[in-house]
Amino acid sequence: MRFGVVAIAGAVAAGIVCGAALVREARAQAAEPAFSARQTGAGGAAYRAACGRCHGDTLVGRASHEEGIEAPTLKGPQFQAKWRGKTAKDLYDLIRDTMPGDKPGTAPPATILGAVAAILQANGRADGGEGPDVAAEDLIRIQLK
Ligand code: HEC
Repeated sequence: MRFGVVAIAGAVAAGIVCGAALVREARAQAAEPAFSARQTGAGGAAYRAACGRCHGDTLVGRASHEEGIEAPTLKGPQFQAKWRGKTAKDLYDLIRDTMPGDKPGTAPPATILGAVAAILQANGRADGGEGPDVAAEDLIRIQLK
């Protein structure tokens, strides 16, 4: 009898621990990270300084024969279709490895992260308000749509 009570208490305790783990996991999956408003604002400034010359301050792309610039738009349906199904990490990696177009690999990590925030915002992604900043390692959890 005594053994039975201990077994039941053990099973209940195990159930509670499992349940808590499941809730935690579900929350981690549901809550896709969002750039904070502060981060998005700073990211826009970093983007304009490092990328605007070629892609335009409003991300519409630019072509200038005299400057030898022809860079694509980074927003809108065509851009989104190209990136749909990938993650923000893929975008980060491409920028890190190939941008700026005339000096690949020279953009500092903070600039790249900020540019990703600015690109997401320009493509209609809401920021996370006063929520925590997104770190580079969180980008893999942001799905591009
Ligand atoms: C000197 C001009 C120049 C600068 C500065 C520059 N880019 Fe680019 N970027 C280009 C060109 C040209 C392409 C097209 C490359 C290709 O098609 O192979 C491109 C392509 C891209 C793409 C891929 C677009 C797509 O359709 O998938 C992204 C994203 C991008 N740039 C982001 C950035 C970011 C962010 C910065 C700033 C850190 C930046 N670029 C700075 C010229 C530039």
